[in-house]
Amino acid sequence: MVCIPGLLWVWISLLVPLHGYPQPKMSGSSDDTRNCTATPPYLPPTAIDTTERLRILRHHMQSHNLSAYIIPATDAHMSEYIAERDKRLAWMTGFTGSSGTGVVTLQKAALFTDSRYWIQAERQMDCNWELQKSGWISAIGQWLVKEVPEGEKIGLDPYLFSIDNWDSYLQALDGSNRTLVALDDNLVDLVWGSQRPLPPTNTIYQLPDDFIGSTWQEKVSHIRTQMENHSGKPTAVLLSGLEETAWLFNLRGDDIPYTPVFYAYTLLTKTSISLFVNQSRLSGDASQALAAGCPGPLCVTVVDYEAISESLRIYVQQDGVHIWIGTEYTTLALYREIPPEKRLEENYSPVMIAKASKNAKEQELMRAAHVRDAIAVIRYLVWLEKMVPSGSVDEISGANFVNQLRREELFCHGPSFETISASGLNAALAHYSPSNTTSRKLTVDEMYLLDSGGQYLDGTTDITRTVQWGEPTALQKEAYTRVLMGNIDLSRLVFPPRTSGRMVEVLARRPLWEVGLNYGHGTGHGIGNFLSVHEWPVGFQSNNVPLDKGMFTSIEPGYYLEGEFGIRLEDVALVVEAQTKVILLPIF
Ligand SMILES: *[C@@H]1O[C@H](CO)[C@@H](O)[C@H](O)[C@H]1NC(C)=O
Ligand SMILES: *[C@@H]1O[C@H](CO)[C@@H](O)[C@H](O)[C@H]1NC(C)=O
Ligand SMILES: *[C@@H]1O[C@H](CO)[C@@H](O)[C@H](O)[C@H]1NC(C)=O
Ligand SMILES: *[C@@H]1O[C@H](CO)[C@@H](O)[C@H](O)[C@H]1NC(C)=O
Ligand SMILES: *[C@@H]1O[C@H](CO)[C@@H](O)[C@H](O)[C@H]1NC(C)=O
Ligand SMILES: *[C@@H]1O[C@H](CO)[C@@H](O)[C@H](O)[C@H]1NC(C)=O
Repeated sequence: MVCIPGLLWVWISLLVPLHGYPQPKMSGSSDDTRNCTATPPYLPPTAIDTTERLRILRHHMQSHNLSAYIIPATDAHMSEYIAERDKRLAWMTGFTGSSGTGVVTLQKAALFTDSRYWIQAERQMDCNWELQKSGWISAIGQWLVKEVPEGEKIGLDPYLFSIDNWDSYLQALDGSNRTLVALDDNLVDLVWGSQRPLPPTNTIYQLPDDFIGSTWQEKVSHIRTQMENHSGKPTAVLLSGLEETAWLFNLRGDDIPYTPVFYAYTLLTKTSISLFVNQSRLSGDASQALAAGCPGPLCVTVVDYEAISESLRIYVQQDGVHIWIGTEYTTLALYREIPPEKRLEENYSPVMIAKASKNAKEQELMRAAHVRDAIAVIRYLVWLEKMVPSGSVDEISGANFVNQLRREELFCHGPSFETISASGLNAALAHYSPSNTTSRKLTVDEMYLLDSGGQYLDGTTDITRTVQWGEPTALQKEAYTRVLMGNIDLSRLVFPPRTSGRMVEVLARRPLWEVGLNYGHGTGHGIGNFLSVHEWPVGFQSNNVPLDKGMFTSIEPGYYLEGEFGIRLEDVALVVEAQTKVILLPIF
């Protein structure tokens, strides 16, 4: 018998989990949340008065003949983290959570958000806003049908809705005789007026050669090959996601917190490249590099950011053109510029797909960033061990210190998301970040959860450790052990090529399920090379792409007991080829 070496894939964890142990304590007061049934209503100091803003918004709604207006929490690029000038939902409602939708009618105002944010919403909103405890578009649709009379109109800004979201709203209102209207003006911006922060003006810079996996010319050629090879015969690719443009041209900026991207669009055709960005923001080197191939098919023409709709309109007037778009990132406004027969629709653009699999150089860069990042985290954990018993650390000072330790590492550009530094019951809120009103002192009696990451020129990091310096309860020991088992089981999995993450994520849950425990969030997400900490479309959800060689993903099972404690253990893993005795074929 001969053994046949085969191809398959395994996870390799970049960091080995550290161990720690827990202990609970109940506390929490209700005077930090609003009470709208009290007379007069009780508002905590953290709530924002929105009466005047709503009055003016309703005035604009009436002049547009609208009975309702929808305010999402994203920008024109479907970014997860958004710049101050795009925080329209936060400005209108007071609620600063990263996920939610505001809906204003002439009589009512409602914030829709999921369970992660209910307490935060009660702390930040005044009594003009009702909290609707669901983030689903179907729930928003049902509420709209209840509140908006038949035959009336519901307005929205088409630059803030992806095609997929728009379709979901259409479906939710289907047959209800309420019409969705895409407006030219953003009504919140009209209310915000001159108070609204200005567009960023900081410099857009080139990534140094040491930190790139391929030149932008190589990337453009690769995408053009994908176009040639596609049966839909696209003549152009439209890039709306900010990471797509940043990745393609090896450029970075500081427009969005935690993510080194800049406001831009790209229209890449077989023979031309248009980059829509404020040209005066490009560094001299960047401008020069983009113009190096001019004239010719590798010449980048820089066009005003605001000209994207008009340029698209002009391009699609030509015969035989066909634009490849990703429906998760393209907004309704741009989609509508393209006649249906000239659209090639897929979930993701070829750039999103190419970016998802890191080449050898990119993998090496990512590893180097993670090694330096681990040094910062280990220094922090050692420091905590010394400091916590003396009672001199709280959640905020701890978060500030770990951020500072990262900044001391080479090539660091700050945190990759707001540090989650959570002690005791605060850790039961999976997306908690400390504030002055909620920050707890770290003690040897409570479990402490730290979920944090850094942006480095070579890679983006994300790691969670849960530690305890005293004696944990039996439940805490069991839950911690089972979370760790889930992390290890998924990390060590050998699986057929192109298996979907959805199919294997149960391995991270199995040890918890065995004793009736579970967690209410995803198991992991892709991550970029000095780009987003949550990089789509890699991960374990049904709309993620199959797992393939060169993809990085976090693996982060957890367990949360409300009012008591929270546990999460997160590493970043890489999909690599494995040798098996027999070749394992793809499942499908
Ligand atoms: C809100 O105030 C009312 C009236 O004072 C009181 O009965 C109720 O318990 C309060 N609710 C909360 C959640 O504190
Ligand atoms: C609103 O409705 C009135 C009356 O039907 C009409 O005259 C007006 O043009 C409409 N305004 C807009 C912005 O649609
Ligand atoms: C929609 O509602 C309006 C106002 O009530 C009504 O006049 C119209 O007939 C309705 N249309 C349909 C298709 O039901
Ligand atoms: C071109 O498409 C075919 C069929 O979809 C595929 O097998 C092949 O790998 C593709 N080639 C490139 C260079 O992407
Ligand atoms: C473009 O950037 C420059 C700074 O480089 C700034 O002064 C100008 O206002 C920006 N233009 C627009 C339209 O934002
Ligand atoms: C929190 O407290 C610190 C120190 O007292 C202060 O500098 C900071 O401005 C406060 N932050 C907020 C959001 O109130």
